[in-house]
Formats: sequence, structure tokens, C-alpha cells
Amino acid sequence: MRKYNWGVLGTGNIARKFCHSLHLLENAVLYAVGSRDQERADDFARDFNMHHAYGSYEDLVSDSSVDIIYIATPHTYHLENTLLCLRHGKHVICEKPLSINAKEVRQMTDEARVRGLLFMEALWPPFQPSYIKAREIIESGEAGKVLHMRGKFGFNTEYDPEKRTYNLGLGGGAVLDIGIYPVMDILQFMGVPDDVEAWSDISPTGADRSTAMMFRFNDGRMAEAYCSFNVPTGISTEINCENCNIILERSREMGQKLYVDFHGREPEVMMFTPSGMGYQFEAAEVMRCLDKGLTESQVVPHSFSHNLIEVLDLVRSRAGIIYPGHD
Ligand SMILES: NC(=O)c1ccc[n+]([C@@H]2O[C@H](COP(=O)([O-])OP(=O)(O)OC[C@H]3O[C@@H](n4cnc5c(N)ncnc54)[C@H](OP(=O)(O)O)[C@@H]3O)[C@@H](O)[C@H]2O)c1
Repeated sequence: MRKYNWGVLGTGNIARKFCHSLHLLENAVLYAVGSRDQERADDFARDFNMHHAYGSYEDLVSDSSVDIIYIATPHTYHLENTLLCLRHGKHVICEKPLSINAKEVRQMTDEARVRGLLFMEALWPPFQPSYIKAREIIESGEAGKVLHMRGKFGFNTEYDPEKRTYNLGLGGGAVLDIGIYPVMDILQFMGVPDDVEAWSDISPTGADRSTAMMFRFNDGRMAEAYCSFNVPTGISTEINCENCNIILERSREMGQKLYVDFHGREPEVMMFTPSGMGYQFEAAEVMRCLDKGLTESQVVPHSFSHNLIEVLDLVRSRAGIIYPGHD
């Protein structure tokens, strides 16, 4: 079994969760971390028993033993950080959203393609057991055509104009942070919509606090998505098919429930509680691709990330969400 040396760029909330998951994979070596601050890097490396702690991102990417870098900085830094890693010959998995708009995402995928390096958006849900089960049911044909979907992702978070959630300079706003998930579900199970409408409640910083989205397909099908930083809707996506209704329900701790209700049968409820924090599946996908010599995941290929950010660009333009310097 080939082992890969992982580097982690950024030491925030999700970087810690990701490393708890990475620990579960035998072929992953938690090798090095890079932070803007040496002390934060030292603390992080100590907590995860890593070999190296670097006080700058440049030092991390300059370590020739690092194979793959996981980028866990705020959205507005993903482009710069990804280009830095790729230009130092590193394979990259970058947190969602890949960047603020489609133009920036294309720059990232172009760079990876030209350099022949693996690049993937860290979209964890498609790799979760509950999602795979839902996909199996739909792809088997048993469920019939997906006719409609409704997804929501909402929780209460304090309004703080400085924090990542509301700070436009860090990519703040509900759509890019959490609305991306129900939109991703719709693209995964229904494809790319032909028309989009959206409305936002915009906070004083300009970041959207809540956004409602409607999607229309030329064959008459429709879908809805909602996200919010101040309405605790929970996290679920309902998929209405010709022969059944499926509900994917996720807790923020990654426990997942799948309801499958075939017309005329007893509804089934399946519980999935993956060990760790559940991020190991996307990390395993990166290493599986590298083992096979692939530079893109077939589950989350570059084309999927392009479609996703293009739809999010449309949502933002309809709802009036603007990131100065990024349009
Ligand atoms: N997949 C998921 O489930 C999930 C969940 C949460 C967040 N995310 C994504 O992960 C990314 C990071 O989110 P997070 O919640 O981990 O954020 P966070 O806790 O604020 O951490 C971000 C880290 O980025 C680094 N950073 C670089 N420039 C920065 C700047 N100007 N301001 C603040 N931090 C800066 C910092 O690390 P150093 O100071 O050590 O350099 C910081 O600790 C976002 O893109 C978000 O969408 C994904």
C-alpha cells in the first residue's frame, strides 16, 4: 500500500476536524502543517502528532516530502493558496466553495490540469454512506425519475461582522458557506438547472444571512433550496421521485439518516454513523485517485465544480450578493 504525506494549510475549525478523520486512514501520514503563525502551527502539529510545523504557507509547500495539501482557509484565500500549492508540485484538495466565482475556479482547475496534478473540491456529502445508498436507489431505476427536490441548511449563528460567516472579505455569507450543499444535492441528483431565481436577506456587512433559491428545468421539473445563519432549519434534502420519496437528513456531527418511502410499501429508515468526523471518505478518494494515476475524482470532477460555482454565481446575481473585487 502506497502511503501519502499530507500537509494541512490553515489551522482553523475544519482543519482540526479533517485531521481527526485523516487519522483513520492507514495510507495517510499526517505529515506537516502550515500556519501564518509558528505557535499555532506548533500547537496543531503537537495535537495531531505531525512531523513538521511550519510558520508560513510557503515553508509548507517548499517541503519536498509533502505529497498532498488540504487547504482549509477562508474562501477568499483558496485561489491564492491553491496556486501556491500547485506551483510547488503538490496535489490539492481544497475546501468548498473552491473560490468566490466561476472565473477564479477555472483558473484553479486550469493550473492543475496544465501541471498534471490532482485537484478536488472538498465536498464531503457525495462520499458518505447515506448518500451512496440514495444514489444506488436512484441509479438502479427502481425509484423512477427524480421529479422535484427541496434542500435546506440552516442554523443559528451570532452576528459578528468580523467573523468568517459575516465578513465579506473572508467570503462571508450563507449561500457560499452552507447553501452550496443543497445546491450541490440538486446538481448531483437532477443535473444543471436551466433557470434560477433567488432572494436574500442581506446583513449590514453585505453578506447574505438567508437565501431562498428556486431552480427550473426545461422539461418542467423544479427544485428549491434554502440556507440561513439565523433560522435553525436543520440539514436535510428531500428527493421526490416517480416511485418514492427519499429524505437525506444530516446532523452537523455527521450522523446521517436516510428515509426511503416507496409508494405502497412500509417506509424504511436507515441510520449511518461513520466513525471519526466523516471527512475520511473524501481524503480516501484523493488517495484512491492518485493510486490509479487520476488527476480528477469521477465523483467530484472539475466539471462538477464548474457547474456548481456557475449556478452559485447565478444565485448571487439574482439575489444581489456582491463580493467586492471578485466580480
Ligand atoms: N467541509 C465542511 O464541512 C466545512 C465546514 C466548515 C468550514 N468549511 C470550509 O473551510 C474553510 C475554512 O473554514 P473554518 O470554519 O475552518 O474557518 P476558520 O476556523 O476561521 O479557519 C480558517 C483558517 O484559515 C487561516 N487563514 C488564512 N488567512 C486568514 C484570514 N485572513 N483570516 C482568518 N483566517 C485565515 C487561519 O489559519 P492560520 O492562522 O493557522 O494560518 C485560520 O485558522 C472555509 O472555506 C469553509 O467554507 C468546510
